[in-house]
Amino acid sequence: MNSIPEALLNLRGETKYIDDLPETKDLLHAVPCGTPLARGRITSIDAAAALALHPSVRVITARDIPGTNQLGQAVPDEPLLVADDPASPAAEWGFRGQVYALVLAGSKSLARKAAGLVKLAYEELEPVTDPRVAKEKGLLILGPRTQAMGDPAAAFAAAKWVVQGRVESGGQEHVYLETQGAYAWPLEGGAVKVVSGTQHPSGVQEGIATVLGLSMHKVEVEAQRLGGGFGGKEDQAALWAALAALGARISGKPVKLVLSRKDDLTMTGKRHPYSSDFRIGLDAKGMITAFEADYYQNSGAICDLSPAILSRTLFHAAGSYRIPNLRVTGYMCRTNLPPFTAFRGFGAPQAFFVIEAAIDAAARKSGIPAEEIRRANLLKEGDSFHFGMPVEACQAGTCWERLIEKAAWKETRAEMAAFNKAHRLEKKGGAIVPVCFGVSFTKLMMNQGGALVHVYHDGSVGVSTGAVEMGQQVSRKIARVAAATLGIDIDRIKVERTSTLTVANTFPTAASTGSDINGMAAQAACQEIKARLIGVAATALGVPAQELSIEAGRVMRSGSPSTLSWEDLVHRTYESRVDLSAHGFYATPNLVYDMKAERGSPFAYHVYGAAAVTVSLDVLRGRYTLDRAVIIHDGGESIDLAVDRGQVEGALAQGLGWALLEDLAFDPKGRLLADTLSTYKVPDLHFMPPRMDIEFLQGLPNPKAVLHSKAIGEPPLVYGLAGYWAVLDALDAARPGGPGLYDLPLTPEKCLDYLEEKRP
Ligand code: MTE
Ligand code: HPA
Ligand code: MOS
Repeated sequence: MNSIPEALLNLRGETKYIDDLPETKDLLHAVPCGTPLARGRITSIDAAAALALHPSVRVITARDIPGTNQLGQAVPDEPLLVADDPASPAAEWGFRGQVYALVLAGSKSLARKAAGLVKLAYEELEPVTDPRVAKEKGLLILGPRTQAMGDPAAAFAAAKWVVQGRVESGGQEHVYLETQGAYAWPLEGGAVKVVSGTQHPSGVQEGIATVLGLSMHKVEVEAQRLGGGFGGKEDQAALWAALAALGARISGKPVKLVLSRKDDLTMTGKRHPYSSDFRIGLDAKGMITAFEADYYQNSGAICDLSPAILSRTLFHAAGSYRIPNLRVTGYMCRTNLPPFTAFRGFGAPQAFFVIEAAIDAAARKSGIPAEEIRRANLLKEGDSFHFGMPVEACQAGTCWERLIEKAAWKETRAEMAAFNKAHRLEKKGGAIVPVCFGVSFTKLMMNQGGALVHVYHDGSVGVSTGAVEMGQQVSRKIARVAAATLGIDIDRIKVERTSTLTVANTFPTAASTGSDINGMAAQAACQEIKARLIGVAATALGVPAQELSIEAGRVMRSGSPSTLSWEDLVHRTYESRVDLSAHGFYATPNLVYDMKAERGSPFAYHVYGAAAVTVSLDVLRGRYTLDRAVIIHDGGESIDLAVDRGQVEGALAQGLGWALLEDLAFDPKGRLLADTLSTYKVPDLHFMPPRMDIEFLQGLPNPKAVLHSKAIGEPPLVYGLAGYWAVLDALDAARPGGPGLYDLPLTPEKCLDYLEEKRP
């Protein structure tokens, strides 16, 4: 029976990704053609030279789309292909690398070569890349959105200290190991099947149905697993899947489209860069009395998930702090850069950086240490968030105190100060950052999921849900939930690939809710089957069902083993003609939100934590190394501690990368400067602190999620910000009285500039 865990298959190199799927003889390879500049209008596409290359070559343009040339959901601004009809408004494109043609050929190299021969005639238009310029020009995707509480104007007037400033945070490339891709083949009756590298099979199904003009039941979408998603395949996998499906529909042959790394880097979206203004007010004791912020979200050329991401920014504007008077406004600024999209944290890290920068600035002006301001203003039980949700099961203070203890922070600070006094060319720095992260999709409707469970008559179990496995081990967690619910060993459970045929109308595996929602749905289905099994056992044993349970693969009567094993029971149930399959459904309860009033409880619960990072700075060169990270994390009762630890470590790495290292730079013409993995730097083992101590709070079962667990995927990314403030702390030791620097990532180049006082 023994089903093999996903992690072990990964380790052995046995997991199959899209490019590993077997290729049939008639397979066509697809290569997209992307626009050469950030903004322009197509006048014509000339495919003659490409077509002349080989008889297998086909060039598909917008004219070939049988359905609607549109993938945009919130806003219809996302054509599948830029139109080659100069009279159409869809002939204007919005970013460099936007797809205008798809080339098919019998081999990948041929398809690449042919794609290079497609000639584009166009008119160049002036691009906008700066979100503030876009806002001035009125280029907003949707209207601004504001959340407010209390009376900020009065609070600022009464404040002892008022500080304002500007904050920049850069974007971030997902660098999933598996690039975006899809494999599509035509089925009988005009239907199509697509294996897609997507976090959202139902969304891909809908997109394909729209562009092919099919009803959804003719489009089957499957995701076996992804070689990483990190948000990059929540919305943006649909384009590649729809292109592959279009190719299959038009050619009548299987089509495989797997992006080259370079195409993936230039053509797909990344984390949103933000430019923000803040104003913070403190009373004489260092309590934050007022906070205001304007967030200029660089949304890129297409709406994509920008509204949902902005929404999460606003919900996390106050970070982990109690701020009685607050007013925050977000602008979705349309620019001529690739469509920025979901990335682990989903707008919350950007908000955290702004409030932490405001506190840093307030500390510089008031002379009160930033750490004291942070500690004094942490959320407490009974407070409420600025959108009216009560603060419950608050662990902000617990995490902070435990961190101070575990990291021996007082001693660490004293050692760093002594070191800095004794050394001129090397400086130590450290910082603590608290985290409070809301769990649930900010869009209420998305908080639902389904499952389909089959118990086969040999006693093995297959579980399908809407959750997509992308390395986060959601399949492991769901297997644990099913095993615990049915009372059997985990190696009897196999979690199946995700398909629109098994579970329909699902939402993306995102918002860290994969195991929360799909685990609950799987649990519901297992409970239903278990009730039927117990009914059969009651008849077989001649005892009331209430006395029976299943534990460790055996039917138990009032806690003692009966004669019935799991296999016996399943077989009897089968013989008794009782259904061994069930569908389960879960909709997160008690979520309410009034968008007009900006009031309600949009989250099922919050995840708390705190991280301390210490660093050493080479003052001459501006280089730094990370010495240690200590993290206290409130993870509820973990379903799998090894998985959760891995998620915290991985998220920390990604957070540190965003805060310190990853420089997603575009030139004023909208061209991505580091467009290869040899020039775009991501954290590696050597970058990470050699000492990492991660502790999970114990004895805090979470009643709001499956098996009393807590979502884990995104919140720990914010810990990476501790690295930013730690490096700035070391810079301050080298340049006392400096103005502060709120411009992430804090690369060694920027450190050197700061030390040489080139920056404000
Ligand atoms: N971990 C791995 N290994 N690979 C991923 O792609 N995505 C992250 C996080 N952890 C990701 C990951 C993101 S952005 C989210 S929202 C969650 O996993 C999604 O999965 P979950 O909801 O099942 O935790
Ligand atoms: N988080 C992640 N993905 C999402 C969300 C969210 O809150 N809303 C829509 N997609
Ligand atoms: Mo994660 S950014 O919600 O896919």
